[in-house]
Amino acid sequence: MKKKAIVTGITGQDGSYLAEWLLEKDYEVHGVSRHASVARHDRIEHLQDRITLHSADLLDEGSLISLLEQVQPDEFYNLAAMSFVPVSWRQPTFTAEVTGTGVLRCLEAIRRVNPQIRFYQASSSEMFGKVVETPQSETTPFYPRSPYAVAKVYGHWITVNYRESYDMFACSGILFNHESPRRGLEFVTRKITDGVARIKLGLQDELRLGNLKAKRDWGFAGDYVKAMWLMLQQDQPDDYVIGTGVTKSVEEFVDLAFSHVGLNWQDYVVVDPKFYRPAEVNLLLGDASKAQEKLGWQAETDLGGLVRMMVDADMARLSTSPAKLRLVA
Ligand code: NAP
Ligand code: GDD
Repeated sequence: MKKKAIVTGITGQDGSYLAEWLLEKDYEVHGVSRHASVARHDRIEHLQDRITLHSADLLDEGSLISLLEQVQPDEFYNLAAMSFVPVSWRQPTFTAEVTGTGVLRCLEAIRRVNPQIRFYQASSSEMFGKVVETPQSETTPFYPRSPYAVAKVYGHWITVNYRESYDMFACSGILFNHESPRRGLEFVTRKITDGVARIKLGLQDELRLGNLKAKRDWGFAGDYVKAMWLMLQQDQPDDYVIGTGVTKSVEEFVDLAFSHVGLNWQDYVVVDPKFYRPAEVNLLLGDASKAQEKLGWQAETDLGGLVRMMVDADMARLSTSPAKLRLVA
């Protein structure tokens, strides 16, 4: 019999890649999509005949309980969140409810319906924030720097707590930044690759960015969802850091992206303080040696490959369907 998995956040970047990976592994995939007056399912359009979508919301525990009773899954991947850091200062209570206590609602629903269901929580390297050591590993203390990161720390610890209190198979993946052509346009990598493509095609003449000095450990989302699945296939539940072990500044990413289309970034990039954050995370660098040793996982795509993939995809999209032009946040 096929294994069944529920994926919250299936309409997001990671949800779409995880759904593809689980289908490849012959799972029956059930996705959670919250109600909207106009549904946006672009990232999973190509999968619509192979997955089942359910209406539920992390703000509504009853909807999660009904979903679990109906599907009776083997695995539950909680990828849903308000995931854009700047919005978390503008909507801190909403962020706490979705990204923080939303995790508790998932765990409680599982505990009530069937505590044997294996649970994955999408924790984040943002929890390391103002880092107390470099590189960051599973034992590095957290120092969150945004309402988003504080909510993620709650989600992380409630996952650990349910594992220890109720003997549930609950894992937390502490993932460093991961990107793809499906990344939201407001995140810096996609804002850059989309901007580079527009400038190259004559659709835009400058790119306004914030702090170019911030450093991130950037990987490819398609590689990272495999680590999520691997965590739930182990004999024991545990927490794992997932990253590439390489950190680069936003400026270096910008340089790689503009160079790929033969342009000099200094001619186009304008630093705009509007994009500065009230408290910045200056440096993230992951030590994923535990994941490599115990899961046999390592990043397959390097930064150069990632940048080329994203710029090429944005060039192709904007060259062939100008109707899809969208404004960047
Ligand atoms: P994303 O593209 O922003 O997707 C977030 C998903 O959450 C969307 O499908 C969204 O649905 C859903 N969602 C939001 N609020 C919800 C609610 N109240 N109920 C149900 N669903 C809700 O994020 P991502 O990049 O794929 O990241 C996936 C997860 O990993 C997130 O939890 C994120 O915080 C975490 N994470 C991401 C990274 C990264 O670098 N990408 C790194 C570490 C951790 P709609 O389509 O309806 O908005
Ligand atoms: N978004 C954005 N826009 N960021 C900018 C800009 C800009 O115009 N200019 C500079 N940056 C800098 C930000 O200040 C930050 O230091 C860095 O680029 C990365 O910003 P984002 O791409 O928005 O990602 P993030 O690191 O804040 O958060 C992402 O990664 C986390 C994991 O570490 C998100 O995916 C989170 O959900 C995730 O948990």
